[in-house]
Amino acid sequence: MCGIVGYVGDRNVYDILIKGLHRLEYRGYDSAGVALETPEGKLNIYKARGKVSNLEDFCKDKDLHASAGIAHTRWATHGEPSDNNAHPHYSQDGRLALVHNGTIENYKVLKDALIEHGCEFKSETDTEVLVQLIEYIKITNKCSLIDAVREALNQVQGAYAIAVLEKDHPHEIIAARKSSPLVIGIGKDEFFLASDATPIVEYTKEVVYVKDGEIAVMRKGEGLKLLTLDNVEAQIDVAELQLSISQLEKGGYPHFMLKEIFQQPETLLDCIRGRVVDGGKTIKLNGVEDNQEVFKNARRIIIVACGTSWHAGLLGKYLIQEMCNIPVEVEYASEFRYNHPVLFDDDIVIAISQSGETADTLEAIKIAKRHGAFVYGISNVVGSSIPRETDSGTYIHVGPEIGVASTKAFTGQVMVLTMLAMCVGRLRGVLSEEKVEEIGKCILEVPELVKKVLELNKDIERLSAIYTYAKNFLYLGRGYSYPTALEGALKLKEISYIHAEGYPAAEMKHGPIALIDAEMPSVIIAPYDHLYEKIVNNVQQVKARGGSIIAIVSEGDNEISKIADHVLEVPRVPECLTPLITSIPLQLLSYYIAINKGKDVDMPRNLAKSVTVE
Ligand code: M6R
Repeated sequence: MCGIVGYVGDRNVYDILIKGLHRLEYRGYDSAGVALETPEGKLNIYKARGKVSNLEDFCKDKDLHASAGIAHTRWATHGEPSDNNAHPHYSQDGRLALVHNGTIENYKVLKDALIEHGCEFKSETDTEVLVQLIEYIKITNKCSLIDAVREALNQVQGAYAIAVLEKDHPHEIIAARKSSPLVIGIGKDEFFLASDATPIVEYTKEVVYVKDGEIAVMRKGEGLKLLTLDNVEAQIDVAELQLSISQLEKGGYPHFMLKEIFQQPETLLDCIRGRVVDGGKTIKLNGVEDNQEVFKNARRIIIVACGTSWHAGLLGKYLIQEMCNIPVEVEYASEFRYNHPVLFDDDIVIAISQSGETADTLEAIKIAKRHGAFVYGISNVVGSSIPRETDSGTYIHVGPEIGVASTKAFTGQVMVLTMLAMCVGRLRGVLSEEKVEEIGKCILEVPELVKKVLELNKDIERLSAIYTYAKNFLYLGRGYSYPTALEGALKLKEISYIHAEGYPAAEMKHGPIALIDAEMPSVIIAPYDHLYEKIVNNVQQVKARGGSIIAIVSEGDNEISKIADHVLEVPRVPECLTPLITSIPLQLLSYYIAINKGKDVDMPRNLAKSVTVE
């Protein structure tokens, strides 16, 4: 949610910033801007509404020479997307330029006080309040920029990652973070700064993840300096970046989303590598092995997550209850944080997040920890905030997910939850060795089976053309296929803007059945499982009301295939593994319907990949 890039050094500053903004555009694309400081100490700011390419057009005839610069791509929170509200923001005397990711909660109080002191505001943003506050403190206290930044940050409430340039300081960037990610790349006599490591990877592998409450001072020709908000020097931990440029490119696919859907055979293999071993007899998850007593004695598990990760969490409930016999509750992190959660010290809270930065999930973790619960994280982005905030956890290892619609991260999360349930089930004596081996063997086959499902690509593309007309869709499933239905509906609505609802198939008769007519297609997820006969009835109920049906069924199906209008057959797997298989055609169906409608699937309107605001 909003992306920040910064650079100080001898390279072409503008090029680095623009390239970096393109890499971060998945975080927001309402407007973009750059602040460039010339070696002579002059500050130039250029901003444009819309995507980074608009900014590039705007900058074509501008003075772009610089020795330091900061840049921003915005996902609007305070104030509509506009040139005025775009970052960077200037302070009143034009001596400071600032970019910001996050939200300043007490901005109104601060703004009113600044107005009383004669400050005039040009935008509706909370960010402008921060830059004006820094300037006000700097002038009133006659102090350095670092001191003014520190003092200002001690006054603000909320979340931020910021970068500041000061006129006449052409070789310096000051940055800081609290609850919004910021990473610094260290080169020879140069520093890179970004919201995540993707803009940095081609220049250096040496990175420092700025911690909450730290201020970073980057001056060309000097070593990096980190200070706390109490003005104490903080330790610098340099990490090696495990990321390659090819992971950040489309690799011949027209969209990241399609690339990521097709990557799933490999990403699932990466996810299980070294974890499903001995031909499937043993499941090894370090996070569980290192905390055996906690998992043995847990009385309850609460899963917190948002969006697609919440759907994975709901599948986690089905998996854990079946395999471990532990009661599981699944909560939207945004609700959990405010619904007076009742937690006990033998509860385990599992937080799931692809980005590892989702603000609501992070806050839920903090609450759980305050209540004494053991918190386990399931994330994709190595070094992100959630793995750092949790007591233990597992990475899904599916590589960078850039398409805003989550695909490979979903299957990675479900795979980790499956392995976790098996591990804990074995540990607690609920799952027998034989059962582990039976499922374990099938897990090893999943990557190849997913490859087989992807062969449906052309059929699904053709099928999508028939249904692109629809204004509403119903997605139905039972048991493990119910969370899969929710996920299928979310995928369709977020990239095609078609209204879609996921429902437990049997619940349909209690209301949603009223919606069904010839104009409202239903996607029914009905692989062969213990609820198969039951869902056959639900399929008939839809058919009897004139609704058209796309059914995802197991190979060899001979009941639903006769009723449905269109059938996609997928390989048979044990019931607990079906979501890993049935979710793939749903991803492709959404993708092609959105493409047919001419939508930007990688950057759907109003959305951003990483939601770091409440
Ligand atoms: O990074 P996270 O997994 O915490 O993100 C959670 C949701 O914002 C995310 O899954 C969102 O719903 C996606 N756009 C779904 O495709």
